[in-house]
Parts: sequence; structure tokens; C-alpha cells
Amino acid sequence: METETFIRPNKSKRKQRSPLLIFLFLFTLIFLFYYFKNFISPSLLPLPQKSKIPIIPRPSQCNPTNRLQGKFLWYAPHSGFSNQLAEFKNAILMAKILNRTLIVPPVLDHHAVALGSCPKFRVLNPIELRYAVWNHSIHLLRDCRYVSMADIVDISPLVSYSTVRFIDFRAFVSLWCGVNFDDICSKDQTIPYPLSERLRECGSLLSGYYGSISDCLTALEDDCRMTVWTYQNDVEDGALDSFQPDEQLKKKKKISFIRRRKDVYKALGPGSAAESATILAFGSLFTAPYKGSESHIDIHESPNDPVIQTLIEKIEFLPFVPEIVNAGKKFALQTIKGPFLCAQLRLLDGQFKNHHKATFLGLQQKLESLKQTGQKPIHVFVMTDLPMANWTGSYLGSIAKDSDAFKLFVIREEDDLVQETVKEVMAAGHGLKLGSILPSSAGTNNRHHPQSLTDVLLYIEETVCSCASLGFVGTAGSTIAESIELMRKHGICSG
Ligand SMILES: *[C@@H]1O[C@H](CO)[C@@H](O)[C@H](O)[C@H]1NC(C)=O
Ligand SMILES: *[C@@H]1O[C@H](CO)[C@@H](O)[C@H](O)[C@H]1NC(C)=O
Ligand SMILES: *[C@@H]1O[C@H](CO)[C@@H](O)[C@H](O)[C@H]1NC(C)=O
Repeated sequence: METETFIRPNKSKRKQRSPLLIFLFLFTLIFLFYYFKNFISPSLLPLPQKSKIPIIPRPSQCNPTNRLQGKFLWYAPHSGFSNQLAEFKNAILMAKILNRTLIVPPVLDHHAVALGSCPKFRVLNPIELRYAVWNHSIHLLRDCRYVSMADIVDISPLVSYSTVRFIDFRAFVSLWCGVNFDDICSKDQTIPYPLSERLRECGSLLSGYYGSISDCLTALEDDCRMTVWTYQNDVEDGALDSFQPDEQLKKKKKISFIRRRKDVYKALGPGSAAESATILAFGSLFTAPYKGSESHIDIHESPNDPVIQTLIEKIEFLPFVPEIVNAGKKFALQTIKGPFLCAQLRLLDGQFKNHHKATFLGLQQKLESLKQTGQKPIHVFVMTDLPMANWTGSYLGSIAKDSDAFKLFVIREEDDLVQETVKEVMAAGHGLKLGSILPSSAGTNNRHHPQSLTDVLLYIEETVCSCASLGFVGTAGSTIAESIELMRKHGICSG
């Protein structure tokens, strides 16, 4: 092996070769192909699938001499923002239970990475899911659009109670992969060689394409098809979960999964093989109730561990960073003024397209009842995915016209408030301030293009809605509505 890394170089130089040499070469190739066929399955994966043959020397990151200090936890978020936030909370919980530093991921583009369906037992496996998240995260950096989850969600209370330790993904990667991110963000959207190659290798390793490496990396392959994580709440560790694939599914899809309930502390905590690994990598940390069970994580309380119990209560609600909360409050106080109603109307996306009538009916009933109070005009803040130009002909159009009775307010992406908030969020850079082992260059130069304005608009709108003193009318089944209800419950607008 002539390189210090564990990847074979594939430089190709053109030289004159004799026919005999070519024949010998081909023969050798064919021989090798048949020889290794039984060991290595061909694949389109970013790097060769892990194999049991120890032909790969220990990656340099895993040598005891340059191993990172500390223990880290990585996971693979996916889907939309609400989903990513739910996974982030579960990750905080896992990090605390396992006493590991949580690697804080970026906010991924809406549905840039998808998991699949747990009830149908059709999901991306954890290795591929992790690589998809890695790949997307690197592309966000390359495109100068990287925003950390901790830039948007305020985790400072958790840090200051020093109950959980965090490190930014960029800081972690520059340490672990030994790369410098200063040149990665570029207008022409290319990552220079050899940085690109180094990142590809490092991402493949971290995702688990080479499997787990003792004392260095535990790349979990558990997902919602086989594991429900628990913590101290099952009589028997490893018991069967109540939800299993039914016979029909087993036959039709030829699946043979058995779902077991596993205590995360016993499986991965002190005394386990995973415990000694510098990095523990989960796949998805998404969970949802399904048929009387949880799809992947069933940790709702922890009566025997007060520290974890307190944390579960603390993370039920994580507010947005002050820059976003202040922007929402400012709009409520200075632009809308006085009491107002918030209407959150999800009309275009997926399942919501066919429920316009029901969605509008709720709003109509609320407005009728407010009219009875005699106050005019009633102030209504509207957050909807239906562009204003298309309101005509709908109930929204009719109340917009009735300016005697109603005064409507909206925020648009191009409004100064949104632009300024994006600048403030980027300037604050809460994410990179996490963790004490921050290297000087962690991809922090300020050549940042603002991130998607649509996202920041959404966070501000949610905040405005949490300030609506006349009430809130949301769209049934929308995760945005749920998160607004949670913000209202925690009174983020007061104080
Ligand atoms: C948790 O990890 C930290 C840092 O690695 C260590 O100092 C501490 O003793 C650990 N706590 C427990 C309870 O093991
Ligand atoms: C990596 O991400 C890019 C865009 O973000 C996508 O086009 C590409 O297919 C991804 N590759 C892998 C292996 O996931
Ligand atoms: C909104 O209106 C524009 C222009 O009238 C039209 O092209 C577009 O299809 C409409 N969109 C929706 C979702 O109705």
C-alpha cells in the first residue's frame, strides 16, 4: 500500500503496452474477479461495501495515536423541518443517556433525504441513510447554504445546565477527517481535489460502509424494522415488540424482520462493545406511535432516573433562537398591533390539497364567533402556502375583500423583516459556538449566501402565531400547527 490512507489510488496513466501484457493483465483481472466474487458483492455504493476480509488497513482516524479525545454520537436526520427537530430532541436524549457529545447536524433541505415507511417495513438502511445525510451536508457547505440546527433552535439552556455536550458537525468533521473547510464554499459549486476525495472517504467510513471498527466507530444497523429503543422501562430486555410485520406482508414482500425492544443503555452503554468506540452512529432517530406501539424509540418517561426525566421535560419544547423570536414579536407588536387571530392554512402540499373545505370551515366559524363581540375590523394574521395572487375565489379571497370586517396581515419572503432576520441569524452563528474543542478554521468564513428564505419565513410566522391573543386556527394534521400549539402552550411570546 503506497498511500497512508486506506483507499487504493486509482490514478490511470496511459502508456504503450504490448498485446501480451494486455492479455496477461486481462487474464489476471478475470482470475481475480472470480476469486473475489464470493467475497465482494458489486454495488453502486460510494465506496466498496464493507467486507469481512481484513484487506483494509485501519483508517488513520482510528489509530490510537491520533484518535479524538472524547466520545461522540452522530445520527441521520431526514424529511422536513418538524421531523428533523423531533429527531434532534431524541438525539439529545440518547446523547445524555449514553454520556456522549452530540454532533449537531445542519438543517437539511425539505425532503432532501427521505427515510421511507416504517409500518411498511420499507426504509433506507442506516448506512445508506447516513451517507445521504453526509452527502447533503457537504453539498450545503459547498453551496454556501449551511445552517446548523443550533443556529435556528436555541439549545443554550441545555448547554448552560451542562447536562448535555454538543459539537458542531463542521467542527467535528474538520477534526476527524483532518480537513480544512475554508475553500469549500464556492460560487461554481465544485469541491477542489483532493478535498473532495478526502471527504468522500471520510464520509463512507463514518457512514459505516466498512462496518464498525473496534474502539473507533460503532455504525449501528438497527432501524425501525427490527429495533424499538427503550430505557429502563421494560421488564425483559430484548422482548418482542407488540407490532410485528403481518403474515400477508411477510409473504408478499418476503420480509423476515422481528421487532425487538432493546434497552439503549444496556445495548450501547457501559460494558457494551459500543461503549469504547469514539463515535457511535445511529441511523434515523425518528419515531411515531403506530398501532399501539412506537416505531423506533419508546422513551417517554424515566421514573427511575431523575436526571433523564428532567431532560425529557426540558426538551419537550425547544424555542427558536432569540433573533427569530424577536422578529416575530416585533411584527406582532409593531405591525399588527392590538389583539389578532392567527390562521395557519396549509392548502397546497400533499394530503392537504383535498381538505380545503374543512380547513376553511374552521376559520369561518372562528371569525363568525369573533364578529359577535362587535369589534371591527378583526385583525387576522394569515400564514399559508397559497400565494396571495391565488386567493380570489376562495374563502380567503372573500375575507380579504371585506375590509370593513377584517384586516389581514401576511409576511412575504422579500420583506425586510425576513431578510434582516436571516442576516442576524447568520451573524449570530450560534451553532459554531458549541463545544470547546473548536478548531480555528471550521468553515466559518463569511462568504455565506443566506439560507433558504422560505425556511426563516416559516420560523418567523410560527412565532407571530404564538403571539395571537384572539386565538389560533390551524390546519388539522399539519406538523406546523402542532409546533405552533406547543409554542403557545409555553408562552414564548410573553416575557
Ligand atoms: C461522562 O463523560 C465525561 C467526559 O467523557 C466524563 O468525564 C464523565 O465521568 C462521564 N460521566 C459518567 C457518569 O460516566
Ligand atoms: C449527493 O447529493 C447530491 C445533491 O445533493 C445528489 O444529486 C446525489 O445523488 C447524492 N449522492 C449520493 C450518493 O447520495
Ligand atoms: C396561481 O395563479 C397563477 C396565475 O394565475 C397560476 O398560474 C397558478 O397555477 C396558480 N396556482 C395555484 C396553486 O392555484
